[in-house]
Amino acid sequence: MTERLDLAGRRLVLALSGGIACYKSAELLRLMVKAGAEVHVVMTAGAQRFITAETMQALSGHPVATDIWDARTADLMPHIHLTRDADAILIAPASADAIAALAQGRADDLLSLLCLARPWGVGAQPVPLLIAPAMNREMWAHPATQRNVAQVQSDGAQVLGVGSGLQACGEVGEGRMLEPEAILDELIAALSPKPLRGRRVLITAGPTFEAMDPVRGITNLSSGKMGFALARAAWEAGAEVRLVAGPVHVPTPQGVGRVHVQSAEQMLAAVMQEVVQLGPGDVFIATAAVADWRPATLATQKIKKERRGDDTPSNVPSLVMVENPDILASVAALPVPPYCVGFAAESEKLLEHARAKLVRKKVPLIVANLGPATFGRDDNAVLLVDAERAQPLPADGTPTDKLTLARALVAEVARRLPGSRSQ
Ligand code: CTP
Repeated sequence: MTERLDLAGRRLVLALSGGIACYKSAELLRLMVKAGAEVHVVMTAGAQRFITAETMQALSGHPVATDIWDARTADLMPHIHLTRDADAILIAPASADAIAALAQGRADDLLSLLCLARPWGVGAQPVPLLIAPAMNREMWAHPATQRNVAQVQSDGAQVLGVGSGLQACGEVGEGRMLEPEAILDELIAALSPKPLRGRRVLITAGPTFEAMDPVRGITNLSSGKMGFALARAAWEAGAEVRLVAGPVHVPTPQGVGRVHVQSAEQMLAAVMQEVVQLGPGDVFIATAAVADWRPATLATQKIKKERRGDDTPSNVPSLVMVENPDILASVAALPVPPYCVGFAAESEKLLEHARAKLVRKKVPLIVANLGPATFGRDDNAVLLVDAERAQPLPADGTPTDKLTLARALVAEVARRLPGSRSQ
């Protein structure tokens, strides 16, 4: 499978202000370059106390700009050259001082100067400004900082969240810079089209685990990867995303709210609690491989083998099963359902089974795939089946990585929503 280059062709400015989190910016830069971006680094004098410009030059492959009076630019206007064809400017770490300078519109170092000079909406296409704050918890919580954050947000910058936990100073609290992977995901999302802006998306993912006693149960091989990829793609597309997931070891995507469940009954209860937030212009996507049946009884203690004298197990328990609720059909049957998308994992007759499910579950769209070919894998190809037609995705039917597929699927869903402008 080929490597996804989410930032291919992008020209980005990564600006560092002073803070211990600068050591993470080297990793962030590496990730940005690996994702295909051309990155130009700017460092304040404070940032250079923490890591060297040489490190950032070696990782970016470009000289680092540190000075308003940089004699290498013939016209002495690095703030103009850096911002005019940039796709985005990212300040990481953004110190309390750097944010204060932006809030005041100062221009006494290269970082604040180039932010002030960036196209922001009057003339040329605005260049998005993303800010990843990093500071001690008292500094972050201080009303002055929060006032400055609110000011730069209302001036059009996107201020990313902060991490919480042990800080370099030894204190515990909010104010740490987000991890490089999370910042990269935020950057990719900031540069993505927003066909789901203002919409809510609820997704089920993963297998369910149906217990028979406190240590055993029945489950299946679903990895949850497709549902998690869809959650990320929907968030990138501007939706507010909630993910109800069975037991899987997949990290929760950036920006997505997750509810952990085990059994089908728990999944149904969680979905019904979440779905009240959704209107007819919102979306429910059921990717979970919900167990069709569960053991009829749940033993309160571990079921033990009763041994005969010759040590031969004598009690092979027989499993009596009952049917689980159909979560997708339950949501589709609500008086005002969201736009419902089902998945069909089949082992044969893809189109035939998908059409039958469309009718049986009363949903407008089924995404059909061959279960054994996709479970646990990182790539997939699907067939989109609605009342009128069946359409392969990707169009040529060649399996692609699940995030690329999820983005295409999200675009297709967005196009079909009532009131969509992307039709
Ligand atoms: N689904 C659900 N609740 C269930 C069973 C399935 O929400 N109890 C959803 C799945 O998340 C998927 C769709 O229904 O979106 C189809 O799931 P699938 O297992 O393929 O279909 P089933 O209805 O279980 O039919 P069968 O197992 O006979 O193919």
